[in-house]
Amino acid sequence: MENLAVVGVGYVGLVTGACFADLGNRVVALDINAERIEGLRRGVMPIYEPGLEELVARNVAAGRLSFTTSYEEALRGADFAFIAVGTPGGAEGEADLQHVRQSAEAIARTMQAPLIIVNKSTVPVGTGDWVADIIRANQRTPIPFSVVSNPEFLREGSAIADFMNPARNVLGSTDTRAAEKVAQLHLPLRAPILITDLRTAEMVKYASNAFLATKISFINEIANICEALGADIKEVATGMGYDPRITRHFLEAGLGYGGSCFPKDVKALAYMAAEQGRHPQLLQAVMDINEDRRIQLIEKVRMLVGDLPGKVVGLLGLTFKPNTDDLREAPALDVAQRLIAAGAQVRAYDPVGMLRAKELLPALETAESPYALAEGADVLVVCTEWNEFKQLDLARIKELLRHPGVVDGRNIYDPKVMARLGFQYLGFGQGYGADGEPLAMAGSEKQARS
Ligand code: UDX
Repeated sequence: MENLAVVGVGYVGLVTGACFADLGNRVVALDINAERIEGLRRGVMPIYEPGLEELVARNVAAGRLSFTTSYEEALRGADFAFIAVGTPGGAEGEADLQHVRQSAEAIARTMQAPLIIVNKSTVPVGTGDWVADIIRANQRTPIPFSVVSNPEFLREGSAIADFMNPARNVLGSTDTRAAEKVAQLHLPLRAPILITDLRTAEMVKYASNAFLATKISFINEIANICEALGADIKEVATGMGYDPRITRHFLEAGLGYGGSCFPKDVKALAYMAAEQGRHPQLLQAVMDINEDRRIQLIEKVRMLVGDLPGKVVGLLGLTFKPNTDDLREAPALDVAQRLIAAGAQVRAYDPVGMLRAKELLPALETAESPYALAEGADVLVVCTEWNEFKQLDLARIKELLRHPGVVDGRNIYDPKVMARLGFQYLGFGQGYGADGEPLAMAGSEKQARS
């Protein structure tokens, strides 16, 4: 059993703290937001993550997990202090490190005994060295410490499972002994552990997220070509995915990526490259393709309903992906905004994201159910692939719609089934026209003619 302080009870901090407590450690989780800490003491989670409430309750009851706003309390007896605070992206892609700075300063002023400071926040390469400088500059008396970078790879919606069954753990430090001590904490997870230097560990995080985002933009580019040539992107992805060098993961074409990580991290990596005089061509293309998805989706809406002013568009799903309440960089919100700006009346249904979306975008109307959403709408647009949308009574939906149009931004429906039901259906890269006729026919006729 080790003693851990975790600074920040957002997504990463709370999941990390609760999971380390579950592995048998004593964890004190700190946040400067007193309201959040009060809530957690009453069992109220500040975020929605499946299984988190139970995990927190179990470890609080066992006396392994507690919450505080006091650095003295958090650091008392702690051997490790994990920094897991937010690093929002600025307009140019630069990361805003004020929360990291504040936590490092507070840790430095409060620490009474040697400490290993582990950074979990996604920070620009070189931040670990900067944190060490801050600690050194703010200590009242010199006390030994080490800084270790330990990037997180948690996905929202499966963060606990991802923590408990990681693909790998990456630890970077100039102090190998400190990195090995952090490695000990991770041994029960039985995953490969890479111990490397600080900057390399920080880069692994950016490179991993940028690669996954590249996979998504790649498949979206192929989807565009499939659409033009009459091939089916889902089958293409499956055919590619059997190759163990490629795999089927992250080859879902559609509306593209959103969320708190990919958009911010790709931009930040491109920014870091540009700052050093490098020209990040591929990263730029990845971002451009992703942005283009939203414009293309609106084009598809236009193809089905014509001019947008006065048309009622129903959005199925608002969160950036299913099983989360997170609306950060959600493609649906951007789509809604663009549709509203073009004169459409936009309504949305989402199982968990509606109230917050309405705060962010007051002109957005909401509906109580997918069926209420369909009533009188000119077109339905799938923005998030929540499971409940896959099980809808589509015949009933069709009766409720004013015009039987569906644009499927996540390719959750089968174009042939939709055509059979009488919908005008447009997915992404599926090789079928809105009437359900294979585009390949038109293509081969064209070829035969030329
Ligand atoms: C991601 C990384 O997966 C995780 O390792 C990192 O720590 C944080 O960023 P997350 O943002 O929670 O996690 O979501 P993820 O499931 O990876 O999806 C990101 C976005 O990509 C979503 O908007 C999703 O809809 C989109 N996506 C994903 C696709 O468009 N196609 C795909 O094939 C996969």
